[in-house]
Amino acid sequence: MKTLKIASIPGDGVGKEIMPEAIRVMEKVADVHGGLKFDFEEFPYSCDYYLKHGAMMPEDGMDRLSQFDSVFLGAVGDASKVPDHISLWGLLLKIRQEFQQEINIRPAKLLKGINSKLANPQDFDIVVVRENSEGEYSSIGGRIFHDDNEIAIQNNVFSKRATKQAMNIAFDLASKRKGLVTSATKSNGIFHAMPFWDEIFDEISAKHPNIKSESKHIDALAAYFITHPHELDVVVGSNLFGDILSDVGAAIMGSIGVAPSANLNLNGKYPSMFEPVHGSAPDIVGKGIANPIGQIWTAKMLLEFNGEANIAEHLLKVIEAVTADGYQTPDLGGKYKMTEVTDEIINRLGK
Ligand code: NAD
Ligand code: IPM
Ligand code: MN
Repeated sequence: MKTLKIASIPGDGVGKEIMPEAIRVMEKVADVHGGLKFDFEEFPYSCDYYLKHGAMMPEDGMDRLSQFDSVFLGAVGDASKVPDHISLWGLLLKIRQEFQQEINIRPAKLLKGINSKLANPQDFDIVVVRENSEGEYSSIGGRIFHDDNEIAIQNNVFSKRATKQAMNIAFDLASKRKGLVTSATKSNGIFHAMPFWDEIFDEISAKHPNIKSESKHIDALAAYFITHPHELDVVVGSNLFGDILSDVGAAIMGSIGVAPSANLNLNGKYPSMFEPVHGSAPDIVGKGIANPIGQIWTAKMLLEFNGEANIAEHLLKVIEAVTADGYQTPDLGGKYKMTEVTDEIINRLGK
């Protein structure tokens, strides 16, 4: 029997609602397939934890998480209790950075039965490869002067190593898919970092003559996600560009409530972390209507990256059978509650 040790962090807001739903599904799918067992331990790291303890996690928090095969996270952030930059840098971004989860994989494709926010979407299947450790998400900079003279300076950091790594992963993925990599750039406006990004992209493209490659400015590319999503395959972007594009991708998938993501540690030193693209959704907390599919599809990615591709594919097929038959939460225009959608997935996973 293979056992996967999973650290679950429900976090804040709807994270606390959808995490138990995903765990119910994971236990069922493992049970149905046999040979696999999950050993979950829950960590209460969240804004409530911060209010009690003055930190988002204890001092040995990272050490404890490092003992697991993977981290499974709901959502972090409750600005009514803790400012976002404190909660996010104290938990989500801390884990991504300290566990060297340098790549964030964010698929965007339309599941059967779901209405995209586009009127007439053609079939699209995009994967956003987001550089996840540096770029615009750096803590270098500061605030100087006072009152109306105050200035905030934010330094972006782009290393050749991490940039190349993200691009290599994008080309590798494209070689197993439609064979196109689109790079998100802004070399017409961002003076130092983006021409550097483009040069590296050209270098890596030249090493992959069988893969088509193109660069698009981030502003035009965001629009292209809306007008021509079916023309895209793998999209590689910096930390911020990848963040923004993955929310556009989520909208054309019908709702951010369905979009999954994987923060991958590639050197094997630390666990990877799996979390949906969405946040804590304070506007729908407590209503029982959060879409559980983002978290459950994220569980599919956790299975895939832990060597369980067959179980993962089965789970995605069942999710899609359920959406195809109209079991959808209100964010998708449906009338079903969170637990009803989960129950339907569980019923259809088999005995
Ligand atoms: P959000 O993703 O929480 O919400 C945006 C919109 O999407 C809201 O209308 C919300 O109701 C809806 N939505 C999100 N998840 C949904 C779901 N599962 N089902 C149905 N509808 C859903 O983004 P936001 O409002 O910008 O951020 C709220 C908080 O979450 C902030 O504190 C933010 O920093 C944090 N956040 C955390 C993460 C993360 O933990 N990975 C990601 C994004 C935002
Ligand atoms: C995401 C979120 C985070 C990010 C925030 C909450 C820091 O938007 O996971 O997409 O910007 O990466
Ligand atoms: Mn985001």
